[in-house]
Amino acid sequence: MVALKVHSENIPQSARLTLQTRNIGEETTVIRCLDWDRDRFDIEFALKNGTTYNSFLIEGEKKALIDTSHGKFKKLYLEKLVSLVDLSTLDYLIVSHTEPDHSGLIKDILNLAPQITIVGSKVAIQFLENMVHQPFESLIVKSGHTLDLGNEHQLEFVSAPNLHWPDTIFTYDHKTSILYTCDVFGMHYCDDYLYDEEPDLLEKDFQYYYDCLMGPNARSVLAALKRIEKLEIKTIATGHGPLLQHHIPKWINAYSKWSKEQSKTDNLVVVFYDEDYGYSEEIARNIIKGLQKTEVTIDLVDLSTTDPHETRQLVYQAKGLVLGMPSQNNAKAQTIVNTILAVGNPKQAIGLFESGGGEDEPIYPLRNKFQEIGLTEGFPPILVKTGTTPSLEKMASEAGTDLGQWLTRDRSIKNMKSLDSSLEKALGRISSGLYLITAKKGEIAGAMLASWVMQASLEPIGVAIAVAKDRAIESLMYPGDRFVLNVLEEGNSQGLMKHFLKRFPPGSDRFAGVKTYRATNGSQILADALAYLECVVTSRTDCGDHWIIYSNVQTGRVSKVEGLTAVHHRKVGTHY
Ligand code: FEO
Repeated sequence: MVALKVHSENIPQSARLTLQTRNIGEETTVIRCLDWDRDRFDIEFALKNGTTYNSFLIEGEKKALIDTSHGKFKKLYLEKLVSLVDLSTLDYLIVSHTEPDHSGLIKDILNLAPQITIVGSKVAIQFLENMVHQPFESLIVKSGHTLDLGNEHQLEFVSAPNLHWPDTIFTYDHKTSILYTCDVFGMHYCDDYLYDEEPDLLEKDFQYYYDCLMGPNARSVLAALKRIEKLEIKTIATGHGPLLQHHIPKWINAYSKWSKEQSKTDNLVVVFYDEDYGYSEEIARNIIKGLQKTEVTIDLVDLSTTDPHETRQLVYQAKGLVLGMPSQNNAKAQTIVNTILAVGNPKQAIGLFESGGGEDEPIYPLRNKFQEIGLTEGFPPILVKTGTTPSLEKMASEAGTDLGQWLTRDRSIKNMKSLDSSLEKALGRISSGLYLITAKKGEIAGAMLASWVMQASLEPIGVAIAVAKDRAIESLMYPGDRFVLNVLEEGNSQGLMKHFLKRFPPGSDRFAGVKTYRATNGSQILADALAYLECVVTSRTDCGDHWIIYSNVQTGRVSKVEGLTAVHHRKVGTHY
């Protein structure tokens, strides 16, 4: 760590955002944006050593930029880029994935170089259309596709979905043998060493980064590693931290070892979809979003590219299956569906969804077949009427969470039972009030009965709420989101509790039959609440199986001056 400290101390306080530009191969330049002080990432990911955002320029007969940078580097990055290349000659911007730390300047690049073609996975291009709100030329790529920049810079793309975003692709340049991986193999480590000469300094951050970002998708990591096996790699050009060149087998082996360990699980869910058909991919990814809130391992499999042998092995290991309807005209996918039917067993749960491609395999006859075999339905069939909508995406995500919760219920019960009985009784003596949280974001509304709520600050007025990580409303409570905290009244809370404790089918209206009116922030105020507070989320803290959501209170009212808050007394602390 000595070398790191010397470097950090040499950076003047006024220059904590710096740039490093180097040649890393023939006609290839890296622009590293060094963010020396960044101490948080993805809300819960604490950093000790800052981070970097790495962008790359390849100048063959055609010119391509791979990724941009974080918005905070706008001035520094664009000035540097203009000094390196005439932007009107840029042909391509390859987007490895669309998270803002790499895509934050895409809109600026589009304004400066409107002729540019954006290259990315199908999902990345869809995300970008919603992000930049302006027309642009695009090229959708996936594994096996190539792009010839001339002068021997033949680029080959590798799909790497779920690492750690759904839209990730790698790019391999056959001339320089550089593999561009963005987040994958990265680390949040800011130093002016360009390469990994001293692995001992990096190991800890490399593993921490893997644990936080890649570990939850270990099976997808293994699938991506398999896809890059055949490549002769001289440099791994990551999007964060140093580029890897001196110890490549060590880094790849570490990913492989950790991912194999993580993949040993009792609760594997295999999600079968058809990447090129209808809305199959979008719906599958939303189901996965919901599954990820629970402790299951997920494998995403394309019905059109897998084979019956791989399918048999996966279905045999799986506890949960999700299947998107393929086209009736896709003979290969039909064979895979028949394989799933042949191997599926009554100990498994299954969820089916339509793909909305116009020629879907009918969902109900297939549902009947799985029921005849004895599989449990993890969620009701998801039907697609007019493409994807925020409501359909929410329904898919909630369906995923329902399936994940069902599969992990035994483990949760076991964990609760393992608690010492005196301890659980003592814990149960912590009392709290009863509340209903209502939240709204765009078209999506949610509600949750809550009791772990407390005032947390006076200046500014703030409240803290514990929300289980597998609750649907969790996705509506990120910094900047708004909600209403309804305070339930003693003697008048039973009906509301009964209503909101019901198990709601995915996507259903939680407020049907409940009298409400709209708060200024758009969420619902319960007409029968004793009081309400309108809040805006300012931070989230990771607390095991819950998030602590700290929020500032903007306004509030009491409906009855005399009323008392409903109090929640528990016998044991292992339940709400
Ligand atoms: Fe470094 Fe997923 O963004």
